[in-house]
Amino acid sequence: MKSRVLTGITTTGTPHLGNYVGAIRPAILASREPNTQSFFFLADYHALIKCADPDRIERSRLEIAATWLACGLDPQRVAFYRQSDIPETPALTWLLTCVTAKGLMNRAHAYKAATDANQGAGDETDAGISMGLFSYPILMAADILLFNAHRVPVGRDQVQHIEMARDIAQRFNHLFGQGRNLFVLPEAEVEEAVAVLPGLDGRKMSKSYDNTIPLFEGGARALEAAVARIVTDSKVPGEPKQPEGASLVIIHDAFATHEERAALRADLRAGLGWGDAKERLVGLVERHVGPMRARYAELMAHPERIEDVLEAGARKARAVAQPFLAELRRAVGLRPMLAAAQALGRAGGSVTVPITGVAARGHAGVVTPVATAASSGAREPAAKVALPVFKQYREADGRFFFKLVAADGSLLLQSSGLTDARGAGGWVKRLKTDGAAALADAPVQLAEGVNRTAVEAALAALAAQE
Ligand code: TRP
Repeated sequence: MKSRVLTGITTTGTPHLGNYVGAIRPAILASREPNTQSFFFLADYHALIKCADPDRIERSRLEIAATWLACGLDPQRVAFYRQSDIPETPALTWLLTCVTAKGLMNRAHAYKAATDANQGAGDETDAGISMGLFSYPILMAADILLFNAHRVPVGRDQVQHIEMARDIAQRFNHLFGQGRNLFVLPEAEVEEAVAVLPGLDGRKMSKSYDNTIPLFEGGARALEAAVARIVTDSKVPGEPKQPEGASLVIIHDAFATHEERAALRADLRAGLGWGDAKERLVGLVERHVGPMRARYAELMAHPERIEDVLEAGARKARAVAQPFLAELRRAVGLRPMLAAAQALGRAGGSVTVPITGVAARGHAGVVTPVATAASSGAREPAAKVALPVFKQYREADGRFFFKLVAADGSLLLQSSGLTDARGAGGWVKRLKTDGAAALADAPVQLAEGVNRTAVEAALAALAAQE
């Protein structure tokens, strides 16, 4: 199975050069690795925790989506979506909230920092703290666990949240997994090799220090103006300079080739003026950023294209999330009444459950053929059992897929992508008629956590109808 990589981008603020070098670029590079399946999303529900200004929320989502696309994220390759387009996320958040110890949340760094600040100021401990802030890590756990992500690339400040997601997953697995793991335990990935870019004043580049170099905003002019403000020592042109440790050199290195790095060092040692070095830096960064900025402007002029991309991304993500949530709902006991009635019926004995007359409704609202449930000896009226259904669909990348979905909506089988609709249709037909016998040849995979016998039984029931 491919390794699943997932990360969220909180949609507040406007991206700067430090975000690009520290997060955007490495994530896009990682998404191009073979054998990974990437999920990147705009954490806009998380943004609501920090910001109650609707226009800023709207603007920032758009800008950040456009930035990632302009920087080369390929939405065909990865699932790129908005957190708030996935209704399964808040649903799972609640399931997780119910098994999360309050004490665990009390220990979250962000919450503790807020309560410490209140205490320091002589305020009530929880003054100004919303339940959103308090439960932030549970929403984040839902983001991750919903897709069974193996790896979660994040900044160091987020590592505690991933650990909490593991804790919560473990507890859920223990309570509801019946011996198997419903959730994969995610690992945080902190890129040690990626440069933390210094800002204009030499401290880490960060919006909160007001020392950033804009990525696209303000065009080449703003880039030049910001670079002019990078703090250097006061050595004049002609004086030999020490390149190591200078912010200008570190920022330069983040974009330069090996040769360019060596050349700048040699020239500074030989007396290159800081002004000239800054000019060189602007040229270098502009060569990288200029073409992306043009794509960014083009996208910002066509927000409907971004909307389309994100909606397609949400469909891709929900193809995974929907069946999985159905399984989780079953695991905690949120099951169709029909299934409970059948279970009671099977148990036999004196419980009489009026199961006749219950419409056997297939998934897409289609009334499916009715099978006879084996009853326990007595001449009970035939119970109607909803059969699984095959569904065929086409993805944004043009490939054709099909899947077998149980009557309760949970995924049983998933095909791989096929190049033509006829091929897909042919396989569906064969699986329907030959049942389990076709399973070995068909381009399908059992859904995670589904056992083979159950699928064989479902296929046999369908084949019996053909
Ligand atoms: N909290 C993360 C941040 O501020 C963003 C985020 C939300 C996230 N959900 C996530 C990151 C899930 C990784 C996985 O950076």
